[in-house]
This record gives sequence, C-alpha cells and structure tokens, in this order.
Amino acid sequence: MTTLSGEHSHSKSNPYYSQLLVNRMLTQGSDKETRHFELSLNDSGLNYQPGDSLGVLPVNCSEVVENLLDIVGFSGNENVKIADENYSLREALLNKFACTVLSKIQIKKFNEIAQVPALEQLLKIENKDALIEYMWGRELIDLFLEYPQQGLSVELFTSLLRAMPPRLYSIASSLSAHPEEVHLTVAVVRYDTHGRKRKGVCSSYLAERVGDTIPCYFHPNKNFKLPEDSEKPIIMVGPGTGIAPFRAFIEERKAIGSKGKNWLFFGDRSQKTDYLYGNEWESYRKDGLLSELDLAWSRDQDQKIYVQHKMLDKGAELWSWLQEGAVFYVCGDASRMAKDVDQALRSIAQEHGFMSEEDSSAWTKSLQKEKRYLKDVY
Ligand SMILES: Cc1cc2nc3c(=O)[nH]c(=O)nc-3n(C[C@H](O)[C@H](O)[C@H](O)COP(=O)(O)OP(=O)(O)OC[C@H]3O[C@@H](n4cnc5c(N)ncnc54)[C@H](O)[C@@H]3O)c2cc1C
Ligand SMILES: NC(=O)c1ccc[n+]([C@@H]2O[C@H](COP(=O)([O-])OP(=O)(O)OC[C@H]3O[C@@H](n4cnc5c(N)ncnc54)[C@H](OP(=O)(O)O)[C@@H]3O)[C@@H](O)[C@H]2O)c1
Repeated sequence: MTTLSGEHSHSKSNPYYSQLLVNRMLTQGSDKETRHFELSLNDSGLNYQPGDSLGVLPVNCSEVVENLLDIVGFSGNENVKIADENYSLREALLNKFACTVLSKIQIKKFNEIAQVPALEQLLKIENKDALIEYMWGRELIDLFLEYPQQGLSVELFTSLLRAMPPRLYSIASSLSAHPEEVHLTVAVVRYDTHGRKRKGVCSSYLAERVGDTIPCYFHPNKNFKLPEDSEKPIIMVGPGTGIAPFRAFIEERKAIGSKGKNWLFFGDRSQKTDYLYGNEWESYRKDGLLSELDLAWSRDQDQKIYVQHKMLDKGAELWSWLQEGAVFYVCGDASRMAKDVDQALRSIAQEHGFMSEEDSSAWTKSLQKEKRYLKDVY
C-alpha cells in the first residue's frame, strides 16, 4: 500500500512500471531538443509532492550494444551470471550494465588488461584534468577502438562494467492538477565526437518511446518543498530544464488557492524556439498567479543575458520580497548557473542591504539554514 511521498515500496531495485502517455517536443526549431513527458500512475496509489524527483531506469540503445559487441568480438549469445541469474551478454548489456559513459575506475581496470603507457600517464593523480578532458565525449567503445583487445573472456569484459545507474528527473507536475500522472522536462543529450553520433542513455531512451512501460521510482526531496505557509511569497530561478519543479510548484499553488505571491525567472537560448511551457507562463501572468515573470534569452542578442542579469536588474524589488520573508529557489545546472545566481544574490544583499562581501556570504548561509534558500541543482 502506498501513501505519502517517500513511504512507498518502489525503489531502483523494485521499480514501478509506468506507461509513457505523452512524449512531446517543447523546443521548436531549436538546436536543443527538450521534451515533455507524461507518465501514468494509473490506480497504483503512488504519491509524490512538488519538489520530488523521479528515478528512471533506462535500457541501453540496441545499436550501441551491437556496435560494442562487434568491436569487442562477442556474438552476444555468451552466458553472463548476475546475482545468480543467467542472461545472454546482449541482454545484460541492454538492461543491466552501463556500457557508454566512462569512469576513472573503468579506465584503470581496462588498462590492467591493455597496459597502454598513454593511459597509465592519464591515470596519474597529477593528470586529473587531462583525464576528465579525455573522458568527455568518449565512451567505452572508444577504448576498444583506440586500443583493440583480442580474445578477451566474457568474465574479464564484464568485470569492466558497472551496474546501470538510474537517472533522476525533477518532477514537473502537481498531482492536484494531474491526478495519477507524473510529468518530466528532459533535455535530450545528443552530440558528435570522434567521428560518432552519441546520445545520452536515459534522455534518448525516453525520447524514442511512447506507449511503452518505463521502470521508475519516486525520489523524495524534503529539502526542496513549497513553504508550509501558503501565503509566503516565493522566488523561483529555473533556466533550461531547471523550470521543471516550478511548473509543479505553480500548479500546486493554483490548486490549493494559495495567496502567496509567485515570481519566476526563466532563461534559455531563444524566446522563439526555447520558451518551455511558454503558453502556461503567459497565461499565469495574465491571470495574476505569477506576479512577476522575468525572461533571459541568452542567444537573442550579441551579448549573453542570463537569469542572474535579470535578478540584478530587479535587485531592489527582489531584496524587498526577501525582506517580506520570500523563499528563494534555484533549479538546474550546478556547475555554472547556480554559482552565478548565488553570486548575484550576494551582490543584491551588498547593494540593497548595504552589506559587506563577508556579511552577504553569511546572510545567504543563514537563509539556507532557515530553509528560505533552497537548491535542486545537478
Ligand atoms: C536531482 C536531479 C534532477 C535532475 N533533473 C533533471 C531534469 O529535470 N531534466 C533533465 O533533463 N535532466 C535532469 N537531471 C539530469 C539527468 O539525471 C541526466 O543526468 C541527464 O538526462 C543525462 O542523462 P543521459 O542518460 O541522457 O546521459 P548519459 O548517458 O548519462 O550521458 C551524459 C554524458 O555524456 C557526455 N556528454 C554530454 N554532452 C556532451 C557533449 N556535448 N560533448 C561531449 N560529451 C558530452 C558526458 O560525459 C556526460 O556525462 C537531473 C539530475 C539530478 C541529479
Ligand atoms: N547535447 C546538447 O546539444 C545539449 C544542449 C543543451 C544542453 N545540454 C545538456 O543538457 C543539460 C540540461 O540542459 P538545460 O536545458 O537544463 O540547460 P542549458 O541548455 O545548459 O542552459 C539553459 C540556459 O542557461 C544559460 N546559461 C548558460 N550558462 C549560464 C550561467 N552561467 N548562468 C545562467 N545561465 C546560463 C544557457 O545559455 P547559453 O547556452 O546560451 O550559454 C541557456 O540559455 C545540461 O547538462 C547540458 O549540458 C546538452
């Protein structure tokens, strides 16, 4: 029996098989492929809260598996035993193992077999950055193409592989607005490197399906929730796929008739092609549910305009919302965006709260402690 988010029995080792009802492009004529998915919870009784994520267990692409089998020199019919169960190597590569993205430990294991001096060099601790650069855009097949290995046993080959990890996606829907459904917003990873077309395992697995059943489970996030007091204002910063949980937040606030003010900062490449859920935001703005909507189009002019630039432009107002007790949320890219947004928040405290640099850092830390500065970044 399933009730509250986090209390149900489904997990990555015991996933729920959900039917993929809708697979729709959100971007139109963009270089990016960002998609909206709707999955059915049917009458499972499964439950989640806005701010939670969904874990998806993907299947590897059959073409990728066949190419790998071919290059390593296996038919695919070889027997593989995993946790006392027998599989063909093909089946295991499709469903059980990660066989694309490289890790340092995998290169290390590969080189215990291959003994390549160049790889030995790369694995040295002082060459950490060069190793990261080497791994970026290369997959397991590239190791075998660059350093062919003859007569490898199936056991030795599979000892190089780790179990397929699930991928998490921030949930983009509220159950109150979409009973028995869970929605996702996914940027599909596709790129060309070293003469091959590549694709992200899970994002392309989802992108290439509709009607199929998808193994998944809920991953609750108690640190990224709407305020209990529904009258509190919220400020949401979510460029790119970072928009996902904020669609869930707004749907929830609308459904419960929340009186709290809502402010959204969204950004992506171009307004014409990348305005994810644009109709919904424009309609929320029109009916007043969104009090403020600030949009940052990074490629619609010569210089980059990002969400943090929009925050700085509206610094005085943003500072005043925070003084009223607003909760500040950030979702999306952890490596650059979230850091720059954090810097913008500190700059606003310095300019409008007359704080020193040091005090502004202490202030953002205290906001986090009070759970008024929450992040869902990846
Ligand atoms: C809490 C959380 C929430 C998340 N929410 C979302 C969400 O709402 N929406 C969303 O889209 N994602 C989200 N993600 C990211 C998501 O989990 C996956 O990491 C993402 O979809 C990529 O997975 P994949 O299997 O498609 O790609 P993978 O098969 O894992 O491949 C990714 C790898 O491909 C390589 N690569 C990627 N691009 C390039 C390039 N241009 N050039 C060279 N190499 C490249 C890199 O090695 C990269 O690590 C979230 C992650 C977390 C942790
Ligand atoms: N394979 C591909 O073709 C491809 C394409 C896009 C994204 N991705 C990957 O997909 C994942 C999710 O993509 P996404 O849609 O969430 O985001 P994203 O495409 O990486 O970025 C969304 C928006 O944020 C902007 N941005 C870039 N740096 C920023 C910064 N420091 N501060 C604020 N904004 C910044 C981007 O501008 P600019 O891009 O104009 O700088 C873009 O307008 C990422 O991991 C990304 O690496 C892959």
